[in-house]
Amino acid sequence: MPYRIAVVGAGQMGSGIAQVAAAAGHDVLLNDRTEDLIARGVAGIEKNLARSVEKGRISAEDRTALLGRIRATPRIENLDVDLAIEAATEALETKLELFRALDAATPERAVLASNTSSISITLLGAATRRPGRTIGMHFMNPVPVMQLVEIIRGIATSQETFDFTHALAAQMGKTPVEVRDFPGFVSNRVLMPMINEAIYALYEGVGSVEAIDTVMKLGMNHPMGPLQLADFIGLDTCLAIMNVLHDGFADSKYRPCPLLRQYVAAGWYGKKTGRGFYTYA
Ligand code: CAA
Repeated sequence: MPYRIAVVGAGQMGSGIAQVAAAAGHDVLLNDRTEDLIARGVAGIEKNLARSVEKGRISAEDRTALLGRIRATPRIENLDVDLAIEAATEALETKLELFRALDAATPERAVLASNTSSISITLLGAATRRPGRTIGMHFMNPVPVMQLVEIIRGIATSQETFDFTHALAAQMGKTPVEVRDFPGFVSNRVLMPMINEAIYALYEGVGSVEAIDTVMKLGMNHPMGPLQLADFIGLDTCLAIMNVLHDGFADSKYRPCPLLRQYVAAGWYGKKTGRGFYTYA
């Protein structure tokens, strides 16, 4: 301690993970496909930190020191790190390719973690020469705010790797929860069918977008309604997770709603594209 941590993917999740890792004192190498994507991720972190300074949660000096611990790393080559956390797109081929690249680029001792929300950790581990040192580290969005990290053990994940990752998540100020490697883990096994069912309720005309979200917000005390939350997560990601549940359990109860498929086909991914169940400026 402190560790050197590579974060692969500088999007919503990756930049959040880079921020909390640097805030916990670690040196972060932030990677994405282009310098521009990394710069965008860093700009998001700067915006969050500016707000924290304004609110008096951290000092201006601490902000400068924190940002100094994050370095842009445009290539996955010669990464002398203790841990790599992959937070790329929720697509199996992309993640397999990244795990092979990380396996080649990092020292043998390094742990390879994925922030996947539903892809098998066992499968990612099997693509490397270190399935024992492969694990799931599933942060929630927005990463700086949400307490939970699901720690997912693949079938071959070693106890040492589990203990290291669990302790690190706690040191980052999060509450780690151990789960086993089955489709959707716990978080999305429970959350995504609820969101999918809300989309069915809309599709079948049971209620409007506003009605469905208001029922769940005021009736169940959820901070956001399920349709707003789906927009916030990304409808493409929601569909990818439903497909993993549907294929993984071969059970029709997980069939993705046709309306969800149609929105994704239209490119209406939610907040990040400006349109989903709601429209965004
Ligand atoms: N980054 C950093 N901080 C953020 C943020 C972001 N993207 N969004 C909000 N915040 C902070 C705000 O700065 C604010 O902090 P202060 O109180 O210090 O000002 C605080 O969070 C509350 O924000 P707001 O007052 O603007 O809004 P809110 O009270 O509605 O809270 C929320 C926002 C925390 C996002 C809340 O709406 C919420 O909890 N929503 C549900 C989130 C959720 O379910 N996440 C899990 C998604 S599933 C997932 O991530 C995993 C998966 O596999 C799909």
